[in-house]
Amino acid sequence: NQYTADIKAFVTAKADELEAFRIKYLGTKGLVKDLFEEFKTVGPEEKRTFGKVLNEFKQLAEAKYNELKETQDSGPKTQDLKFDLTLPGEGLAVGSRHPLSLIRIEIIDIFKRLGFVVAEGPEIEDDWHNFSALNFPEEHPARDMQDTFFIKKNAGRDDIALRTHTSSVQVRMMENGKPPFRAIMPGRVYRNEAISARAHCFFHQVEGLYVDENVSFSDLKQTLYHFVQELYGDGTQVRFRPSYFPFTEPSAEMDISCTICKGAGCNMCKHSGWVEILGCGMVDPNVLENCGIDSKKYSGFAFGMGIERIANLKYVIRDLRLFSENDVRFLNQFKTEV
Ligand code: PHE
Repeated sequence: NQYTADIKAFVTAKADELEAFRIKYLGTKGLVKDLFEEFKTVGPEEKRTFGKVLNEFKQLAEAKYNELKETQDSGPKTQDLKFDLTLPGEGLAVGSRHPLSLIRIEIIDIFKRLGFVVAEGPEIEDDWHNFSALNFPEEHPARDMQDTFFIKKNAGRDDIALRTHTSSVQVRMMENGKPPFRAIMPGRVYRNEAISARAHCFFHQVEGLYVDENVSFSDLKQTLYHFVQELYGDGTQVRFRPSYFPFTEPSAEMDISCTICKGAGCNMCKHSGWVEILGCGMVDPNVLENCGIDSKKYSGFAFGMGIERIANLKYVIRDLRLFSENDVRFLNQFKTEV
């Protein structure tokens, strides 16, 4: 009949039209339902033929509905989208170098131009390389200067700890080679301090070592002077204050003229116009001997600086914790730096 022809001819790609089709034929008040109601009223003779026609009609309507529904699910609309080459691509988020990496790379570059090589060593150290070889006497209070994380503590020289400075790499280098040595040692170091804006339980250092015949304190001064001119710009002033480290004699701390307020008085330089940036000194002859180097023939200088501190002064960062929190709002600010 007419309905059968209608169903066969029906085509749509639209969801609302298909839904109207379903309601019209298959819904609870739809045609199929109506016809089945009518079926109950026909006489027993006609039931057979009428029933057969009715079942075929119902199957036709259902088959049509399912067929159209399927073409709609994976319909042309979504396929077009997939292959539309004019649509913009998805952006890839590009990261940026961490400020501590930027500073480390810059420091390494400067010293490389002066002929220094880069040396590395383990972060888990034994007592010998972190302390004893560096002229820290056993039970000496100087060991308390660096609040050490011990991994194994029992018999002095067998103690195992997280290195408190990369001076341990200097020892390894001197033990395993022959002078002259001219190297810097970048790396992470650990100290047992409460975490605050000004202290952390780990930080990063670059230490340096220069050992040869006739190395003097003026070599140390000129090398470090040149270094800060390169890093903070020409005209940066330096001053040396006497200090103490077990592994250097004499020892000094080096200050630079404040690059932030230029001496006008800021938080970083505590209104003094000077900020401390590193420790240094002439390698103690005991250290050279401990590492198998003839201290009568050779002399040397060493220095060590915290990368965080150098970065604080360069980028005016006032909270150390920012370096290890991985907050992208902080990290993104260094995007323009290569
Ligand atoms: N190792 C020292 C420290 O971590 C720094 C230093 C290195 C000082 C070399 C003098 C010479 O505090």
